[in-house]
Amino acid sequence: MQSEKIFNYWSHSKFISNQKYNFSREEILKVLPKSYIDDAYAAISNWEGYKPTPLIDLNKLSNTYNLNKIFYKDESKRFKLKSFKALGGAYAVEKISAGNKNIIVSTATAGNHGKSVAWGAQRLGLKSKIFISQNVSEARARDIESFGAEIIKVKGNYDDSLKACINQSTQNKWEIIQDVAWKNYELVPKLTMSGYSVMIKEISEQTNHYITHIFLQAGVGGMASAVIAGVARYFKRIPKIIIIEPQSADCVLASIENNKLTRVDIKTESIMGGMSCGEVSLVPWQIIKNSVNNCLSLSDDNIATTVAMLAKAEFSNEKIIGGECSAPGIMSLIMSCNNKKIKQSLDLNEKSNILLIGCEGDTDSKLYKHMVSLGNEKLK
Ligand SMILES: Cc1ncc(COP(=O)(O)O)c(C=O)c1O
Repeated sequence: MQSEKIFNYWSHSKFISNQKYNFSREEILKVLPKSYIDDAYAAISNWEGYKPTPLIDLNKLSNTYNLNKIFYKDESKRFKLKSFKALGGAYAVEKISAGNKNIIVSTATAGNHGKSVAWGAQRLGLKSKIFISQNVSEARARDIESFGAEIIKVKGNYDDSLKACINQSTQNKWEIIQDVAWKNYELVPKLTMSGYSVMIKEISEQTNHYITHIFLQAGVGGMASAVIAGVARYFKRIPKIIIIEPQSADCVLASIENNKLTRVDIKTESIMGGMSCGEVSLVPWQIIKNSVNNCLSLSDDNIATTVAMLAKAEFSNEKIIGGECSAPGIMSLIMSCNNKKIKQSLDLNEKSNILLIGCEGDTDSKLYKHMVSLGNEKLK
């Protein structure tokens, strides 16, 4: 790998261990029951166009760091939505509508979740109303619209769009398909997470190697906790689980450190848009709090470089389209290998089989192109 020397300068922001670590399959599957997980796979694997997304061997990167295997789950190939989110919102729409053609579904979104709900509604011939804040790009809004949704723009940030969605949906009797939980609103987030767990079912059939480590990106923690529940359901051996977040939105890290849900005030929005969340959702927290070994945070520096390197096949034999939220998995692994103490405490060595989740492709194609060219500039 030509660009190997540049990795020497990559370093994490914070790294902590979970003092309350106590992985229990039983407790996890009480929160997200096996029946939910199995139902989701049975339904989604029957959808038209379904096929498992590739599990790519990052052989060039594992050679550089003398690790046995690094697997990258490439969600850029997930249906035509280009992110794992396709598995969640669309599945919740199917379950909640339960064959009723007369309901209207709604949600608030930063982008990918709303697209999944809109697509899920379109598949079933239902109408959808998608609430977005002014922070959501025009390109993302047009993209959601292309799945037949009506876009409702709200002044303010994501929280304001969620409030507007709840108010208007209650008045109009629209079914809210939200990926975050609140008091007495847990079923839909659990269905959404069940959909995401399909990734682990696929991985359990794509490799015979026992996974020793999983690096998991988190926003509100939905994807991370769904993967953990999938591990509890499908994996024979329990890997070390490391949560990754932007340093500006490290709410899982803060909550693990304080041993209670802790909200962080986001002062600067990270370029890792889907992960720029200040509060862990309630259902994920019940799973995450005792199941993750470590949390790591990182800055936006080098995201573009990593996106460009994925595109140039610097980590694997094939080129990979990975968006801004796909990069931090690779970066955290590199940062952990660069730091002797972390490398030792994680037991990263020639026997390690690491799983990284490439959660999205070029979901915002303008931003993606910009990152590739910025990254290529930096690599010169
Ligand atoms: C595109 C995208 N959105 C959102 C998230 C975060 O998911 P969650 O909010 O469920 O933690 C990720 C990955 O962590 C992502 O890649």
